[in-house]
Amino acid sequence: MIHVKRAFVIGYPIKHSRSPLIHGHWLERHGIAGSYEPIEVAPDDLPAFLDRIRSGEFVGGNVTVPHKEAAWELVDFRDLETDGLKAFNTLSQQPTADGIAVYGQNTDLYGFLANLDQQAPGWDEGLENAIVLGAGGAARAVAAGLALRVNGQVRILNRTRDRGEALAADIVPRRALGGSLEDFAALAPDTQLVVNTTTVGMHGTRFDDLRLDLLPKTALVTDIVYVPLVTPLLADAKALGLRTVDGLGMLLHQAVPGFEAWFGVRPEVTPELRALVEATL
Ligand code: ATR
Repeated sequence: MIHVKRAFVIGYPIKHSRSPLIHGHWLERHGIAGSYEPIEVAPDDLPAFLDRIRSGEFVGGNVTVPHKEAAWELVDFRDLETDGLKAFNTLSQQPTADGIAVYGQNTDLYGFLANLDQQAPGWDEGLENAIVLGAGGAARAVAAGLALRVNGQVRILNRTRDRGEALAADIVPRRALGGSLEDFAALAPDTQLVVNTTTVGMHGTRFDDLRLDLLPKTALVTDIVYVPLVTPLLADAKALGLRTVDGLGMLLHQAVPGFEAWFGVRPEVTPELRALVEATL
């Protein structure tokens, strides 16, 4: 009998996940006898679900809304580099003397950086200051990733100023500035990178009065929203002649470390994979 390695993506609900398409493509491409299944898990059932990794039924999987924070609480071992994010999206088996334990990590931080590395090589050379729009869960990973690459400040600007300030103090103390969206114009002239981590852009929504025209002409603007692929923010940036990177690549790259942990092969983010997922947007 062939031993099929089973992985999952759990959420509540789980219908719209594109992860099965991504991992299914890699399984096929590498000829691996494995599966990657979307499973709906209600919040109360999460602790028991993790036992199915400990029992060996699953090699691991992805965790999406609303389970990321609870997964961080529940794992047996935490990835040191992303522990501070207090939210995990990737679980895998950790063999121990007593049996199989659950290891958790957050690969959104990696996915965000790897996307820029692939789509805009050299983006961080001489990078001084970056603006992060938003202060939610996604902003935590992006701000922590940027803290590894900027020489100056990570400027976290949020609709609700308090949340921006709290995130800045928590995630990148001494290297971050928290503020409100109204601070954008004053900070734009010496900012080389802008990242939208808010839900603004979905369904064609846009920021009011965001003065992209005050950014240096060499600035890069990126969005983690990928439906639509070209958000109004990216369209405005393009119209001004600024460089842009869309958010689809972050989704693809965040999947890489999980696949490697579960199936033992480090997969690649290729134009073919991108086209496959893009066709579903
Ligand atoms: P996630 O975990 O996906 O980042 P979240 O924690 O709900 O989601 O955070 C959503 C982010 O989008 C927040 O920064 C939110 O701003 P507030 O903290 O002020 O709520 C931001 N956001 C949502 N709708 C917005 C809008 N219309 N304009 C500006 N920011 C918005």
